[in-house]
Amino acid sequence: MAKMWAGRTDGAVNSLADDFNSSISFDKKMFREDILGSIAHASMLGECGILLKEEADKIIIGLDGILTDIINGTLEISSTAEDIHMFIEEVLTSRIGDLGKKLHTARSRNDQVALDLRLYLKNNCKVVKELLFSLLNVICIKAEENKQTILPGYTHLQRAQPITFAHHLLAYAEMFKRDVKRLDNAVDIMDYSPLGSCALSGTTYNTDRDYVALKLGFKGITANSIDGVSDRDFCVEILSCFAIIMMHLSRFSEEIILWSSWEFRFVELSDEFTTGSSIMPQKKNSDMAELIRGKTGRVYGNLMAILTTLKGLPLAYNKDMQEDKEGIFDALETVINCLSVFTPMLKGMKVLKDNMYKAAQKGFINATDLADYLTKKGVPFRTAYKTVGEIVGKCVKENKVLEELTLKDYKKAHELFEQDLFTEIDLKTCIEKRISKGGTGYTSVENQIKGLKEFLQNG
Ligand code: ARG
Repeated sequence: MAKMWAGRTDGAVNSLADDFNSSISFDKKMFREDILGSIAHASMLGECGILLKEEADKIIIGLDGILTDIINGTLEISSTAEDIHMFIEEVLTSRIGDLGKKLHTARSRNDQVALDLRLYLKNNCKVVKELLFSLLNVICIKAEENKQTILPGYTHLQRAQPITFAHHLLAYAEMFKRDVKRLDNAVDIMDYSPLGSCALSGTTYNTDRDYVALKLGFKGITANSIDGVSDRDFCVEILSCFAIIMMHLSRFSEEIILWSSWEFRFVELSDEFTTGSSIMPQKKNSDMAELIRGKTGRVYGNLMAILTTLKGLPLAYNKDMQEDKEGIFDALETVINCLSVFTPMLKGMKVLKDNMYKAAQKGFINATDLADYLTKKGVPFRTAYKTVGEIVGKCVKENKVLEELTLKDYKKAHELFEQDLFTEIDLKTCIEKRISKGGTGYTSVENQIKGLKEFLQNG
């Protein structure tokens, strides 16, 4: 097909160059946004008297028809078109004649593509947000079920102090709550319509950019036309939100993989979300969690790619910017797929509470509590720390746990030890006594669950 922009050149592009230049294979995803943007633009041209009202109406009816036909499958998006913007305009002109050629008055593909991408991402960030809410909801249910489930908390992957599983899960809730906020913020920052920036410098027509912005549901318009067409900060920001969501999912996945191993046996994933081995009959592999961990890399890659693409670009539009879409579409799809799989996988995950408790009984995770016991009797913390360290050393030598030593043994280490030390180092007491705000104590965990429920309710 002859190029719509033929004129300055004859438009007879080398076929390799033509394919290379084309973005239709990926920007066709934005057909809806492109058409809705064009409808708002045509309507504005009619309102402002740049086109006759009846001309604008005909264009709008034509565009509406194209939208319906693409949705119901009667109009196929041609793979040979240069991009989605050209394709829609070409179809419009073929359907309503020369009037279709008036649509592009006071507009450029540069502001058109910037608009389409913002609209597309705005809509799809809502999907990601909903998925984050579903995940938070499952975390909330699981936390409620595990308020009394004790397991070792780790630092350096060494047993450190007792915590409840609810508390551990609620740490992830905080991360995903921040992800929601970050996404809201990124959408809020990009919620301005660039349409009307035209090629880069604005237009000689008396357009009404605010009208278009309002019609398309934007908060306002971009303030500088050069920035309007050159800005892809919103891609970087949204990709960085996606990268952080993936980082959180990946850490959670990593823990689930560890917990599912025979070495831990803290959880068991449902058969639905595991796979077997082609050779080892005993295997039950956590492939979904591993894939989520693996796919995090490609989302990071997409973030690096857009940052690198943008770093040397002079203002205003450059064709390099066409490279913005594939990465962000891929990241979006990856995040949506990962969240869609992770949430039901977590929901069906069986928590092996007894195994968690057994693990908590080993590894001296109540040693800090023993030191605190002495400290509360006036022994300086460093001294208490050393005394308990020596007690632990003796236990390790004798292959015992702290609970197995006698009061006599304890008295030998420090005269201030009394019988009540045994209640003090009981794991349940250790949890109960963590009364600090945000800690693993029962009241704190109740408060965290309450906070999460409020967050879920207020959206
Ligand atoms: N397909 C192009 C893109 O995705 C649309 C904008 C083209 N503008 C231009 N001046 N060639 O960026």
